[in-house]
Amino acid sequence: MSAVISSVSALSQSYIDREDRYGAHNYHPVPVVLERGEGVFLWDVEGKRYYDFLSAYSAVNQGHCHPRIVKAMTEQAQKLTLTSRAFHNNLLGDCEEFMAKLFGFDKVLMMNTGVEAVETAMKLTRKWAYMVKGVARDKARILFAGNNFHGRTLAVISASTDPTAQEGFGPFMPGISTVPYDDLMALEKELAADPNIAGFFVEPIQGEAGVYVPADNYLQEVARLCKKYNVLFIADEIQTGIARTGRLLATCGDCQCNSGQCRQPQDIKPDILILGKALSGGTMPVSAVLADDRIMLNIRPGQHGSTFGGNPLACAVAMEALKVVIDEDLAANAEKMGQIFREGLRKIAAKYPIIHGVRGKGLLNAIVIDSSEDSSLAWELCLTMKDNGLLAKPTHGNKIRLAPPLVITEVQVVEALAIIEKSFAAFW
Ligand SMILES: Cc1ncc(COP(=O)(O)O)c(C=O)c1O
Repeated sequence: MSAVISSVSALSQSYIDREDRYGAHNYHPVPVVLERGEGVFLWDVEGKRYYDFLSAYSAVNQGHCHPRIVKAMTEQAQKLTLTSRAFHNNLLGDCEEFMAKLFGFDKVLMMNTGVEAVETAMKLTRKWAYMVKGVARDKARILFAGNNFHGRTLAVISASTDPTAQEGFGPFMPGISTVPYDDLMALEKELAADPNIAGFFVEPIQGEAGVYVPADNYLQEVARLCKKYNVLFIADEIQTGIARTGRLLATCGDCQCNSGQCRQPQDIKPDILILGKALSGGTMPVSAVLADDRIMLNIRPGQHGSTFGGNPLACAVAMEALKVVIDEDLAANAEKMGQIFREGLRKIAAKYPIIHGVRGKGLLNAIVIDSSEDSSLAWELCLTMKDNGLLAKPTHGNKIRLAPPLVITEVQVVEALAIIEKSFAAFW
């Protein structure tokens, strides 16, 4: 094995140094300074082109600067951007109707970032427990899956099992517990033991944990158990949703609805669906919580809100971003390209035993490197891939998530695989 030193030009270094000097040190970015994006590609300040295999953590499913989304955004930006919810605007109802019908729920509550939508869903879950389920005041408990990632606010990290996310931020919010992911027995044991459990929050595939795909029947059984114990099933599809895994939603299971109109089998449909990221195609923060009236109407005026949530700019962008996903049949492309990509990765893995495994669904995939989580190997591989023209970042040390925009073509998948293979070859 020979380590490769990644090159950073003086120009790029000057940008990095300025961030380092004046910005908080809450990220450890790959040393590349980007200034332009189009489709699956990004360009750095020197004009070097890269394949984007992160897609801003699956926010750019439609490809960078999709012309239709940018057009909708710039046209609306010249008309009206923000009214606050003190007044009505002419796009909010259209956008809510479009999303409610597309995903099959009665109502939509729009927010901005993903974590705000998760917090919204937590509040909604507690409210439902008190108003409908009859849990005594302040006794509601919310269950989360272990190894989850739902964002960074205090309420949400109260559910984290990641020491880095929690260390130094306590005390945490009460009424939150975790059960191991992909463990139905553990879930049922918890649900059966405590009638005060209000809901179970789960990612259909755990992206941040390293693209952990649960057993085929997991989500269906989660939905069944939640129904059995009168507990809400909340699917956080902020990363898996909007065609990323080869279906409009990952909770669709294998429903074959490639055309975009979501026809979720009722037995996998969550009670609350959380969306974010690609809802704007990566142009601005837009998130949404979807639920039926029996849940959503428990929140009354004044009990929840956001200055920017549901603003007309976000509505125009979200509708166009979703229409692009449907018109371009990005779910079908994600499924097809994902199969070709995983097949190629498995061929590379067969040559390089340092690859412990390849996993994923659609275009949410990961290579697991046969090293410990605190080894720098995956990071060094990402630096080498960067030098060779492909951007990715390790998650939890030894897993490299590979998630390009869903507009990627077969020729581009093959070229990206060649870059990945060349990068492994530089080490072994
Ligand atoms: C599953 C999931 N939930 C929530 C979030 C938080 O979203 P945001 O960073 O927009 O707050 C993320 C972000 O990566 C995520 O992957």
